[in-house]
Amino acid sequence: MERKNLLTAGTRLSEGRTQANPGRRTFIRLVGGGAVLAATGGITGCSNELPEAAIQPWRSPDRDTDLRRFMLAHALLAPNPHNRQPWIADLREPGRIHLICDGDRLLPETDPFGRQILIGCGAFIELAVVAATQRGVSVKVELFPGGMPDDQALPKGSRVATLVLGEPGSTASDPLFTQIVRRHTRKTAYASDRALPEALVRSWSETAANFGLRSGVEAGAAAMDPIRRITREAYEIEATTARTWLESARLMRIGPAAIAANPDGISLNSPMVRALHTVGLFDPMEVPARGSKTLERVMERWVPFETGSGFLWLASPDNSRPTQVASGRAYVRAHLLATAAGVDMHPLSQALQEFTEMRGPREAMHKTLGLAASGATLQMLSRVGFATESRGPSPRRSLESMLLT
Ligand SMILES: Cc1cc2nc3c(=O)[nH]c(=O)nc-3n(C[C@H](O)[C@H](O)[C@H](O)COP(=O)(O)O)c2cc1C
Repeated sequence: MERKNLLTAGTRLSEGRTQANPGRRTFIRLVGGGAVLAATGGITGCSNELPEAAIQPWRSPDRDTDLRRFMLAHALLAPNPHNRQPWIADLREPGRIHLICDGDRLLPETDPFGRQILIGCGAFIELAVVAATQRGVSVKVELFPGGMPDDQALPKGSRVATLVLGEPGSTASDPLFTQIVRRHTRKTAYASDRALPEALVRSWSETAANFGLRSGVEAGAAAMDPIRRITREAYEIEATTARTWLESARLMRIGPAAIAANPDGISLNSPMVRALHTVGLFDPMEVPARGSKTLERVMERWVPFETGSGFLWLASPDNSRPTQVASGRAYVRAHLLATAAGVDMHPLSQALQEFTEMRGPREAMHKTLGLAASGATLQMLSRVGFATESRGPSPRRSLESMLLT
């Protein structure tokens, strides 16, 4: 029996496929064509709000008076793949933060070379630097002080960077600071008829250039349709490849207790999903097979991801480890700029992934964006626009849980 796909509303089972929020009254279509009308709040008498402990880090990151903790309390709000939060901050040397990549939080199947993980680390570094400016302190970032990791394997416990704190009064505050707690990856449908502010598009391209990258915005059906086709195909490959699907499935946290226990990964918290999971009608470990109803329904969850005003991409001339970190720094600044302008962003990374089965879509995407001839590497692809629903923040681990003191 195809149990998983009793779900046709509420959740997408992929990265960032976290937010299950059917409206107040929702039809759940059953295998075989039947339908059940579910009053969302009524199934279990509970809501889809995340447990307070899991979102507490968003509430008051500026509470800390200690500068390094203040920086880290903001840095941990960084966007990162699968919300793995692969960060350990070593504070044992005064005046410095050593950022270590947590080797237990890698994504070996969907991110076999650790490229996306390093992009997340870059975003973390950038937010730490921006937060320090708020206290008037400049930061020198020394990348890979223990040596450059191999191109294709991120060793467990790699030291990604040492942040060396400058003197008080050494810099002015970065105006993007106030956007750190406002930035969220919005994974709902976006309006499809609204143009992006031109000033924002210009600032994205300046930001990319500041980090040695190129960016572009693809808008309008002629440019967006081929990208939509490739991203859809890529998601289908990720969903039907057992090891990549299962990597995500293992990171699903279903219900408040699981989310509070592990405030990372993919949170599924709608009352409907929880109820179906409790009675055994939703099994995340069931891999969708090609041609199955299961896959059909999983792919229905992709539909909102084809909405938006455009796609923003960031590409680099090389794909070195420092470039991957720079891509994360540029990406989070682009997202903070978008937040300030009231624009939403949502990365769709499947077609960029390096596992063997993804080769076709990855090459097609590079070609479509005009990157293939120059040998550039596409580092981030996000749909951009105006979300039609507002959702709360995603979970975060506590600051204390990532410190070495
Ligand atoms: C390198 C990278 C790749 C990502 N890829 C995806 C993706 O393919 N799909 C998605 O829904 N979100 C993607 N995200 C967004 C993360 O899911 C999101 O940042 C994370 O869940 C934390 O949520 P927040 O950004 O709202 O704080 C990606 C983020 C990064 C940095």
